[in-house]
Amino acid sequence: MAEKLKVLTICGSLRKQSYNHALVRTLPALAPEGMTFTESPPFDAMPFYNQDIQDASGFPESVVKFADAVRAADGVIIVTPEYNWTIPGALKNAFDWVSRMKDQPFKEKPVALQSASGGPLGGSRMQYHMRQSLTYLNVFLFGTPEIFVSFAQNKFDKDTLELTDQPTRDIVKTQLAAFGGFIRRVKAQ
Ligand code: FNR
Repeated sequence: MAEKLKVLTICGSLRKQSYNHALVRTLPALAPEGMTFTESPPFDAMPFYNQDIQDASGFPESVVKFADAVRAADGVIIVTPEYNWTIPGALKNAFDWVSRMKDQPFKEKPVALQSASGGPLGGSRMQYHMRQSLTYLNVFLFGTPEIFVSFAQNKFDKDTLELTDQPTRDIVKTQLAAFGGFIRRVKAQ
């Protein structure tokens, strides 16, 4: 039987009807055997990063919880929209907070990316900015296949938000299988 792999998902959209969150909900059905998913603790109530807060009272509880969840995972999948060609502010703020921790939770953590957007590029510009930031955080960044769900409004059922587009389901399934292998190789080191 395949070894269990605990994957933490971090969704960069905060809205209820989010396509990216709908993509997160699809992952268990497309995952290889043994891969389980947990959604990250919320990060939308974190204050904007300010070193004065950190100096005065340490890391806020929401930041500690978020970091602990990353540390506890075998791998992380970030599923997020692109805002103005880059990383949504709330998500970037969470990265900024945990990046200042001594036991920086993303260090050498296997991380894969997915994005869904209403436009034709599917969040690709954001993903390449995200790759820059995550490289500074010393993650082990998964390469290909990349997941860009473009024109998301045509790929999810408009009432149930189920991912109905078969080619998208296929590529997500391929990525998850490859990411599972990637995590195993990192763990074996
Ligand atoms: C967007 N959207 C967007 N789309 C895109 O492809 N490139 C972009 O740069 C942006 N910029 C952007 C900024 C802001 C502030 C918003 C609210 C939206 C559109 C975006 O892809 C669309 O709203 C998605 O549906 C957002 O993802 P969720 O919330 O459905 O997961």
